[in-house]
Amino acid sequence: MVDVILGLQWGDEGKGKIVDYFAPKYDIIARFQGGPNAGHTLYVEGKKMVLHQIPSGIFHQNTINVIGGGVVLDPVTLKRECDAVAAHGIDVRKNLFISERTNIIVPTHRALDKASELAKGESKIGSTLKGIGPAYMDKTGRNALRVGDLLDKSFTTQYIKLRLKHQKLLDNFHFIEDISAWEEEFFEALEFLRTLNIVNGEYFVNNKISEGKKVLAEGAQGSMLDIDYGTFPFVTSSNTISAGVCTGLGVSPKQINEVMGVTKAYCTRVGGGPFPSELEDATGEELRKVGNEFGATTGRPRRCGWIDLVALRYACMINGVTQVIMTKADVLDAFEELKVCTAYSINGKETREVPFQMTKVKIDPVLESFKGWNTDTSAIKDAKKLPATMTSYIDFINKYIGAPVKHVSNGPGREQIVHI
Ligand code: GDP
Ligand code: IMO
Ligand code: MG
Repeated sequence: MVDVILGLQWGDEGKGKIVDYFAPKYDIIARFQGGPNAGHTLYVEGKKMVLHQIPSGIFHQNTINVIGGGVVLDPVTLKRECDAVAAHGIDVRKNLFISERTNIIVPTHRALDKASELAKGESKIGSTLKGIGPAYMDKTGRNALRVGDLLDKSFTTQYIKLRLKHQKLLDNFHFIEDISAWEEEFFEALEFLRTLNIVNGEYFVNNKISEGKKVLAEGAQGSMLDIDYGTFPFVTSSNTISAGVCTGLGVSPKQINEVMGVTKAYCTRVGGGPFPSELEDATGEELRKVGNEFGATTGRPRRCGWIDLVALRYACMINGVTQVIMTKADVLDAFEELKVCTAYSINGKETREVPFQMTKVKIDPVLESFKGWNTDTSAIKDAKKLPATMTSYIDFINKYIGAPVKHVSNGPGREQIVHI
């Protein structure tokens, strides 16, 4: 049995905190896609930790953490993260397992990401520059190096071949940065990676399922950044939606049980691309300030706006969401008035559907107003104590998206969650 926790917006919904909270109910936490573009924040003994490659169950001693075949892995980031985790007394050799099929991000992938973004100029994606796009291109182009290849004698020859191919592409971009320091770090990190548990991920996970173990698949990014169903081309390069769990871990759709979707009580986006309910005014600034909306991976200020129910309903549909977790509700505590986007107006026509393409048309949000609750909710533990104004805000959302909000997160701490 596999449950899933994934993002319903454009990432940074608070997945890390939620996975860390639910981790004790599961035997295995598995990442199925994405790479170091992810930044999942959790608090361990009051100390902030940001995880990029390692699943968010790592701080629970008895939980097995799996990096699945659908992930792209930067060995340098992984090594750095393993060192940070070890400082908390966690032995990654005991509870971290990496699939042989996981694709490796090489230094030239990062260089290519940078070169490609520079070449795009004004229309750049706003990539995290971690090499994600080029690494997935080498996967679909059938050139990639995978973690299992590390155990093969031909690895260095394969690496040199790939590097030469990349060099030609970099020459075309007139990219002339010296990457030798990156390479040195990379080879050191590969030595470290060789010492970790490298397994046949699909048998590993399926055998555990057969033994009756419970698996939680942890999404990275968000549904609106999905390569196929997101706001293309302003997306990431993997399937972030629930279907990605099957391809990313090698499990059958029959194994998927609950799909828990995480959304903020408002909305953010980092990087370029359409964001119909964005607030480019003082209210947006206030959301950024109160919500501390700065990227966990790049530190960039996040764009802020009202919750977009058109996009949220769409995300619930394509993921088959069975329950919703609403995070950062406390961030709205001090707002007199709240708004939600209930339709898109395109060329004077209103729609409740996410259009095929959102970049070449002007989308005006149709907004509905709500009274704010104007109370500090961050210490509430019992759903009955939630202000009536918040309950009616949530009821409206439930009805619109057709999926129930079952948990409300009211602070970054592990214990700050209310079950409805
Ligand atoms: P992720 O990528 O989905 O794991 O989310 P990030 O870690 O990038 O961003 C979410 C941010 O919100 C982090 O700084 C969390 O500590 C914080 N956070 C998560 N849940 C809550 C919440 O309910 N209230 C508040 N105020 N902060 C939260
Ligand atoms: P988590 O897991 C928010 C965004 C980037 C950019 C686009 C493509 O923390 O929610 P990429 O590096 O993948 O080529 O960037 O996707 N992006 C994210 N935004 N949270 C993330 O991850 C993201 N990962 C990528 O800002 O717009
Ligand atoms: Mg994040």
